[in-house]
Amino acid sequence: MWVADMDFATPPCVIDALVARAKHGIYGYSEPDAEFFSVVQKWFRERFDWNVERKWLIATPGVVSALYIAVRALTKPSDGVLIQQPVYPPFESSVKQTGRKLLVNELVYSNGHYSIDFQDFENKIKDAELFILCNPHNPVGRVWREDELMRMGEICLRHGVIVISDEIHQDFIYPEHRHIVFTKLDPRFADITLTCTSPSKTFNLAGLLYANIFISNEKLFSRFEQEYTCCGLSQPSLMGMVSCKAAYESGAEWVDELKSYLCGNMSFIKEFLKERIPKIKLVEPEGTYLAWLDFLALGLSAQELNDLITHKAKLWLNDGPSFGLGGKGFQRMNAACPRSALNKALESISSCFS
Ligand SMILES: Cc1ncc(COP(=O)(O)O)c(C=O)c1O
Repeated sequence: MWVADMDFATPPCVIDALVARAKHGIYGYSEPDAEFFSVVQKWFRERFDWNVERKWLIATPGVVSALYIAVRALTKPSDGVLIQQPVYPPFESSVKQTGRKLLVNELVYSNGHYSIDFQDFENKIKDAELFILCNPHNPVGRVWREDELMRMGEICLRHGVIVISDEIHQDFIYPEHRHIVFTKLDPRFADITLTCTSPSKTFNLAGLLYANIFISNEKLFSRFEQEYTCCGLSQPSLMGMVSCKAAYESGAEWVDELKSYLCGNMSFIKEFLKERIPKIKLVEPEGTYLAWLDFLALGLSAQELNDLITHKAKLWLNDGPSFGLGGKGFQRMNAACPRSALNKALESISSCFS
């Protein structure tokens, strides 16, 4: 229950499209064509009220590769890059492994909810060239509100900082929350932002290695493209494109059903913990299929907690500290599985901790 992919098969429309393309027999170098793009465009227009243009699109083998390319393209060694931990570990590694300086605006955890310390955000960003935003946020499950995004964007503008907005979890938003595409909020934000999207989380396609990156500022686009080329990349994955097109063309209803099942899974975790192990709390997610579990009340060291989860409950979750600052005392559980599997996992945790 660790890595962020799902136990659910991709929808039949995707399987059918892949099988049909497989039968074609010729799998040569391929590019996103006009038909492909119009499907992608429609998806973002209808689901997020966002009008993307063809010339903004560059396809990469994934969002993580795009993060690394962007960090290298848009900063120099030892430049500062700001991230908000606890956060998806490749944010930190894309900064450290490329020899940039890691700056962390630690999220504030209070009363079971995460928020941003904007004073700290602004202090840290003074030393940064780049900010990597995670919206919705993995692992804490926040779907940033308009006022929060506006405030972060204004601070970035004030300090001349470029933004990478990783929106890979944008299709998993729970009732009463709404995903806002950061770049869409203000034309000035569009001018400083690279938006990373992908059908891979939503339709369980991670192994097909395909992501849609949108960059509307031409200068940022060409800097990104140059680094992309320097990595030896050119045409994207054919089957990645085939699956993306089929998913975006015919998968909307499937995603909506999936989302309501996942929402039920989150309620199931919450109720289970409340009734059976009240010391462990679910940080209620506003989005993503990842459950961020708070074990702080147990007062265990990071090592003790991880040993219990791994060796006594015999579960493989993600250890909180792997998400950086603020991760101690937490574990991340992937809830994109049948409820029966979730129940089994929670029973194991219960037998260890109650
Ligand atoms: C925030 C975030 N970005 C990127 C990824 C991975 O993207 P990809 O598989 O396209 O590299 C994940 C996977 O969990 C994620 O949570």
